[in-house]
Amino acid sequence: MAGNVSTPINFAVIGCGMLGRQQHVPNIAGSPKTVLHTCCDLSDDALAECRDIHGALHTAKDYRAVIRDPEVQAICIATTEKLRLPLIAAAAEAGKPVYCEKPMCTSLEEMRDIQRVVKDAGIPFCVGHNRRSGPAMLEAQAIFREHMTNPAPCPWRFDREGENRPQVEGDGTAAMAVRINDDWYSWKGWALDKGHDPFGPMLFEMTHFTDLCNWFLDAEPEEVTALEYGIFNHGVVIKYETGELATIMMGANGTFGYPKELYEMFGNGAAVAVDHLLEIRTSGIAGAPSRKTYAMLKDRHPDVGTEGGLPGWLAKKRVACQEAEKAGDSSLIFTAEPDKGHAHAIDRFVDEIQGTGPMVCGVDDAVRATRVAFAAITSAHERRIVRLEEI
Ligand SMILES: NC(=O)c1ccc[n+]([C@@H]2O[C@H](COP(=O)([O-])OP(=O)(O)OC[C@H]3O[C@@H](n4cnc5c(N)ncnc54)[C@H](O)[C@@H]3O)[C@@H](O)[C@H]2O)c1
Repeated sequence: MAGNVSTPINFAVIGCGMLGRQQHVPNIAGSPKTVLHTCCDLSDDALAECRDIHGALHTAKDYRAVIRDPEVQAICIATTEKLRLPLIAAAAEAGKPVYCEKPMCTSLEEMRDIQRVVKDAGIPFCVGHNRRSGPAMLEAQAIFREHMTNPAPCPWRFDREGENRPQVEGDGTAAMAVRINDDWYSWKGWALDKGHDPFGPMLFEMTHFTDLCNWFLDAEPEEVTALEYGIFNHGVVIKYETGELATIMMGANGTFGYPKELYEMFGNGAAVAVDHLLEIRTSGIAGAPSRKTYAMLKDRHPDVGTEGGLPGWLAKKRVACQEAEKAGDSSLIFTAEPDKGHAHAIDRFVDEIQGTGPMVCGVDDAVRATRVAFAAITSAHERRIVRLEEI
């Protein structure tokens, strides 16, 4: 559907709140692959900003009419997760591709309904697990998967037993650690409202990370065990059918002055790390860069931390925090954001729609990530190991 390879696609963004206006609206307006055709929201102020600042060709309040509009070729859903299935069902009925923010649903029942509706209609569908499309993440995943599929022995690996080394089950099998440092003071009121988000960050944040574990390990999740205290500290362990293990630690009493996320993958005598999507480091993989840094976005401090990567980011952040303190304005702490892949995700989804690129994060992958998150929720709640087949 939707245009030829070189023809930009007319997008409607439904839900132009914080994320919509920080990411999807400007990203769609700024990409040669997309046209910001319609912005749909209930707020006049939001719509005025979309029209006056971002150049939306049309604004509207009735999402049904927007989805039916024959000029609209694809839908980007960035309402809160309270509103998902009716939008997806309407888009499926109209045969239009959908990019849907995470989490894709608020219940397992809704998840299954969405999966069925998307599959029955056969529409291209992508869930906003955007980190998969970040340049650092994409490269790290490609390096790690290549090494796991075609491992080259590391010539300097310390091999005490050599020829006498016993054969042991699990030799080479991958493991992954995810560390998330967040500051809940930055969260919106609805994120803390059990009526709005009954499962809290175990769902709305966790699906990003369960998705990445599934993607890096490329295996079928089998069992999950989790502990949590309140809604700010969570520890999750995922075991995969083929023996891989992933741990996710999310702590929301942390600070924006320190990098949010660290991913470390190990397997076949090698390591790949992604530090805050600013740099990747590898060891034990011939030909892979030992360290590589990536461009930052919205850098207000180009003359500070010019070495880039993590040390460069920390230097910029220190200066930004000092500025914020001096001005009494905490919004000044933001500078030099890592590229978490939001814009690339939409562009890559256009390639998928037009048949020139791979599936970005389709409904089955999103369902798998969501089921692992629900298994973790169940495990923490019932204090037991939960098998995925239960979910
Ligand atoms: N991928 C990411 O990195 C990321 C980051 C933040 C938020 N999110 C997700 O994005 C979603 C939105 O989060 P947010 O912080 O922007 O929320 P928000 O509350 O700021 O924005 C939601 C918007 O949806 C609009 N809306 C509600 N009902 C509507 C309707 N019937 N028709 C049209 N518009 C309607 C609201 O008016 C509001 O402007 C959430 O699901 C959140 O989990 C994803």
